[in-house]
Amino acid sequence: MFTINYNGILSDTIGDKDGITKRELEYFKQQLLPKFERFLKNKENLGFCKIIKKTELEKDIERTFNNIEEYNSIVVLGIGGSALGTQAISKAFGEENHRKKLYVIDNVDPFTLDEIISKLNYKSTLFLVISKSGETIETLSQFIFFYDQIVKHNLNPHKHFIFITDPKKGFLRNLANEKGFKCLDVPEDVGGRFSVLSNVGLVPSYCVGVNIKDLLSGANKIDKNSLENVFMFSLFLYLLNIRKNKKIVVMMPYCDRLIQFSAWFSQLWAESLGKKYGKNNEIIRTGQTPIIARGVTDQHSQLQLYLEGPKDKIIILLRSKEKKQLIINNPFKEYDSVNFLDKKSFDELYEAEFKGTYGALLNEGIPTIIIEIEKIDMETLGALFYFFELATAFSGELYEINPFDQPGVELGKKIAFTLLGKKGYNENIANDIEHREYVLTCN
Ligand code: PA5
Repeated sequence: MFTINYNGILSDTIGDKDGITKRELEYFKQQLLPKFERFLKNKENLGFCKIIKKTELEKDIERTFNNIEEYNSIVVLGIGGSALGTQAISKAFGEENHRKKLYVIDNVDPFTLDEIISKLNYKSTLFLVISKSGETIETLSQFIFFYDQIVKHNLNPHKHFIFITDPKKGFLRNLANEKGFKCLDVPEDVGGRFSVLSNVGLVPSYCVGVNIKDLLSGANKIDKNSLENVFMFSLFLYLLNIRKNKKIVVMMPYCDRLIQFSAWFSQLWAESLGKKYGKNNEIIRTGQTPIIARGVTDQHSQLQLYLEGPKDKIIILLRSKEKKQLIINNPFKEYDSVNFLDKKSFDELYEAEFKGTYGALLNEGIPTIIIEIEKIDMETLGALFYFFELATAFSGELYEINPFDQPGVELGKKIAFTLLGKKGYNENIANDIEHREYVLTCN
């Protein structure tokens, strides 16, 4: 399905200062392999590993959505891990292949909302309200808003809303129980950013026509054949961080269909590994900052920084081997600026620029990994999701932090709740920045 080329992070290629030496690699492999073996032993207790084995999931979804033909548009209301996986799948699947129009509303910007609202025909719209906790304020505000709209249009909300949430707790689950809404589970032990291969990502994907069996089969292939690669990937990124001070990971697909995958990865890597406290509550502040870049576009924007700015980055280039014949016929053969393009394909141009970037990065001693994919199909995407979920979970072991929580974001939520007057919240907003002196105006 895909290969990972690590030659560009080894000292033989980019030198000892930035690259991992064979000696370092062997030493840390020996040291950390037992940790990985323990991780594997415990793996089957991890929620995101258990869900990919649930073969009945697909049948349940088919049964629940046997009336899908009644709808023309699917609207996902969800944020973070409840939206990013669906967006990655949808983009890789290709809009032209969707059997329904899909909108993923993952923000509360009223201008964006208004734009989407103007496109919706409520009568033929199904809202999937997706929230693991069932308590996320952004998602709930959207749900309440659209519920009101559906009622105002004299439609039956029970036909237009399906919830996907925790099996036992939270506002959405309680409302479903009390008011009889259709409600599907996100298993208790599967957190938002690890939930793409649960109902969270599978249901919207099924609705738009994705073969969800393929997503799951790809994930299972990783489990069966490629666990050692998960160890190597996690180990390399960890060593580059702690031994070579590479604190930033840039994921740069040379393939537009994978750009949302980069966004999905960024959340996973950032929210899982960016932690202040270690397992024993000591302050350690771990993590690597993920950046989404796009080949070739960002060669004309960010690449200069990656090449000549601080040497604190690892670049992951993603590409697919698939070809699409689109030939350039050049009517301006007499001009040197473009004459070499005649009869070249855009594939050739893409390839040349990809190799150019890779060569330039190595020349500057920037650690660069290439992930090369045979074909962007749903099986490969499922494999990639699961590969990176495992790598992230195991990296949590390497950094000795909990990759499954996100305590840092709580304070911001509490402040927002206080400002909105939510019962039980009274956060003292001591740092009221609006009243400070240095607010300067430009007119
Ligand atoms: O990964 C996570 O846990 C978070 O990013 C959540 O996905 C996000 O906060 C949304 O939460 P919920 O699914 O509970 O609405």
